[in-house]
Amino acid sequence: MNQLSAIQYHNQQLSLLDQRLLPKQEKWLQITNSQACAQAIKDMVVRGAPAIAIAAGFALAMDAKNGASQAALLSACDTLAASRPTAVNLFWALKILRPLIESSASATDIERCAWQIANDDEAACEAMAQFGAGLIAPNSAVMTHCNTGSLATAGLGTALGVIKRAHEDNKISRVFANETRPWMQGARLTAWELNKAGVPVSLNADSAAALLIKKHHIQWFIVGADRIAANGDVANKVGTFAVALQAKQLGCKVMVVAPSTTFDLTLKSGDDIEIESRPGSEFEQFSASNTIAPGVRIENPVFDVTPAELIDVIVCEHGVIKSPNEVVIAKCLLNL
Ligand code: MRU
Repeated sequence: MNQLSAIQYHNQQLSLLDQRLLPKQEKWLQITNSQACAQAIKDMVVRGAPAIAIAAGFALAMDAKNGASQAALLSACDTLAASRPTAVNLFWALKILRPLIESSASATDIERCAWQIANDDEAACEAMAQFGAGLIAPNSAVMTHCNTGSLATAGLGTALGVIKRAHEDNKISRVFANETRPWMQGARLTAWELNKAGVPVSLNADSAAALLIKKHHIQWFIVGADRIAANGDVANKVGTFAVALQAKQLGCKVMVVAPSTTFDLTLKSGDDIEIESRPGSEFEQFSASNTIAPGVRIENPVFDVTPAELIDVIVCEHGVIKSPNEVVIAKCLLNL
């Protein structure tokens, strides 16, 4: 796995970089079993669609290696599945691991499968970086939302992987990172990650996106995804939909970068995607809490759905899907 990865698995020991503390503190938490991993996913210690799936895989591998019974492992699958609802990568990974457990596969085989999930994600990031960077013209300004880099994957990242590769190819004049309320993944993680990688980045309030797209002639709005329905509707971090609407109006193209493990072809459209709602207390925690009058009801959906018609391209490890719809997506993913 990559150097900045937020997941480490060695000698049956799983540790997660506590992303809630970044960038102030780099603290690794020892995860002792799948229950603890499910809690860490719920609590946002580890976050980002591919990273959640990879952590869950290693947690099950660790339990298996520590001698957990088949019944305990199956129950651990259920606990992991109940941690967060929107990112489909987690359910995709469990769909591979559960039958292995049901067929009494050895702990070594379960561990091998967990490594395969991580290694495949790393390879997918590399392929997507290549495909996506190929779409970007020299001297481009781009905007991104949330964090989709090495902290969220086993490799370069999804959207951030494309941006980093385009930067290596000398195509990026500047990256505009939306702060990404309420958890501030853009401010705390993306700006930190891009700074470390030497990519020129500016941070902005989410509400400044339209102004900046217009002022800086931003060519691409590049984001990751948590679940993509069969018709190309994309669930991603809340705020993506609003910026995609603004981008369309302002002539800025929209690129979604996600591995095939993020597609859910069982869902016809984004209307069927469950959007996670998190406690209002988290919203207060990241706002200036003294600005909110006691008793005010807080709505805190943490994802939204961008309709396919606002998306110019979806980049996955198999290639570039232009003007996504049910037909072209099936053709790319299922080779129909
Ligand atoms: O709530 P989070 O931080 O897990 O949300 C993450 C996102 O929305 C990312 O954009 C998405 O998972 C793609 S990560 C490669």
